[in-house]
Amino acid sequence: MLESKVRTPEETARYMAELKAWIHEEEGTPAEEMAAFFAKRLENYETVHLGQWAPEYEHIADYFDAPLSKILDLGCGTGLELEAMYRRFPNLEVTGIDLSKDMMAKLEEKYREKSPRLILADYFEFPFEESFYDAALSFETLHHFKYGKKQKIYEKLFRALRPGGYYIECDYIACCLEEEEICQKRYDRKRKESAIPEDQFIHIDIPLTLEHQTELMKNAGFQRVAVLYENGGTMILKAEK
Ligand SMILES: C[S@@+](CC[C@H](N)C(=O)[O-])C[C@H]1O[C@@H](n2cnc3c(N)ncnc32)[C@H](O)[C@@H]1O
Repeated sequence: MLESKVRTPEETARYMAELKAWIHEEEGTPAEEMAAFFAKRLENYETVHLGQWAPEYEHIADYFDAPLSKILDLGCGTGLELEAMYRRFPNLEVTGIDLSKDMMAKLEEKYREKSPRLILADYFEFPFEESFYDAALSFETLHHFKYGKKQKIYEKLFRALRPGGYYIECDYIACCLEEEEICQKRYDRKRKESAIPEDQFIHIDIPLTLEHQTELMKNAGFQRVAVLYENGGTMILKAEK
């Protein structure tokens, strides 16, 4: 298990000042459509993500209970989180869903011998099996969506899990309401300015506070929501059905 590192009030103040300065600096840069964003960065994607979250990718499997046979990986990308999952649970049956064919092609190439079931689709629309999975996982994918969308996906995840199942989310959580609000405003501004059609996803970070995140999960039906780990803005949450 990883050791948490919680920001001190001084570190939070410094973080917020840097975030505001960065938002101001990048004001003119256009929003990018989700799949196009990842296709453009595919070559360096894994290096960049491992540079930022290597310990979390390495240890994510520690947060699952044994035995584990079927999991759903939401926004599986190139499958960085699956390396630890397959190491700890070699016979794991993985269903991975992602809308980027480029990311998924890389995953397929890496884990061919494990034969994961791969679904190229939007996870908000794809109908998951009900009461089917022992657990679900998402790693750094849901911080691009607003309340309503997140509520919908948590409800779907809740239904997809078998009784007693659970959902592990490793994601970007806002340190405070101010961070949540300035990120939402930036998202709205860029969405308005961009020529990307309203029905397409854009890659802009809109993290929620832990309080709001927990509220959405509980509204979806999850009994208990716990923080298993945190390091700055990264948290690993467990939501139990
Ligand atoms: C930052 S990547 C994370 C990938 C992988 N979980 C990891 O940690 O390396 C986010 C992934 O979520 C996928 N994604 C975003 N929105 C999606 C949606 N609505 N349906 C399916 N996949 C989505 C993107 O295509 C991308 O591959």
